[in-house]
Amino acid sequence: MPHTSLASTEPLTSRSFALAKSEGRKLSMVTCYDYTFARLLSQTNLDGILVGDSAAMVMQGHPSTLSASIEMLRLHTEAVSRGAPGKFLVADMPFLSYRKGMPAALDAAHTLLTAGAQAVKLEGVDGHEDVIQRLVQSGIPVMGHLGLQPQSVHAYGGYRVQGREACSAREILRRSAAIEELGAFAIVLECVPRALAQEITAARSIPTIGIGAGPDCDGQILVLQDLLGLNLDFQPKFARPFLEGGRSVLRAFDEFDEAVKTGAFPAPEESYS
Ligand code: KIV
Repeated sequence: MPHTSLASTEPLTSRSFALAKSEGRKLSMVTCYDYTFARLLSQTNLDGILVGDSAAMVMQGHPSTLSASIEMLRLHTEAVSRGAPGKFLVADMPFLSYRKGMPAALDAAHTLLTAGAQAVKLEGVDGHEDVIQRLVQSGIPVMGHLGLQPQSVHAYGGYRVQGREACSAREILRRSAAIEELGAFAIVLECVPRALAQEITAARSIPTIGIGAGPDCDGQILVLQDLLGLNLDFQPKFARPFLEGGRSVLRAFDEFDEAVKTGAFPAPEESYS
């Protein structure tokens, strides 16, 4: 079994991200929202876990991440933290939680950190530079998120690749510099052209973690349900399923159903005397 990531030797911290980049080591992250999967992830070499606001979609069935609340993310963060106490845990700042003034932003971050996160992620930079700076100055590691920012879905008019035009590419590059300047320890780049991700990765000293941003980022992150192929209705182009999880789960449910209805389950050895 290959054990080459930082996680195999010592738990990752936000400080290890810069080191990994300087040593050319790729970083692997996955989202997680519950205790059972967190327990499994804790037994892997994956470098970090994100309790993403995608919880609103994949766990709660909402059509976008806008429905994620701080209370929702607190509960998911606590569950993941209980399941994977040794893993580096980042939690998402939900929609608008960092745009309602400094006390509200600090309260939101406080909730996530006391729920077990070691860092927070927030989308964009323009208009909340002060929040990023204050969080960093308060000892809270901050991860940025550029490119497709799902919390801005209505401004985009849908989930679209960002940075295809020269001017929007320049904007994303500029914002990546601003985020680094404000003290963030890493930046998620979501759904941008490979060449732009490569340019940003080369220009920044903090690592880029890509999702739909090509292979040149310093690390990669996937949504757990996509990675495990659990969503049978939709699989984004960039989200390689590493397991046919959905089909396997359906097969197990069907086998259980049949076994119950034919009387094959439970067997005598599965019964108490
Ligand atoms: O919430 C989430 O799942 C994310 C990933 C797409 C990085 O932010």
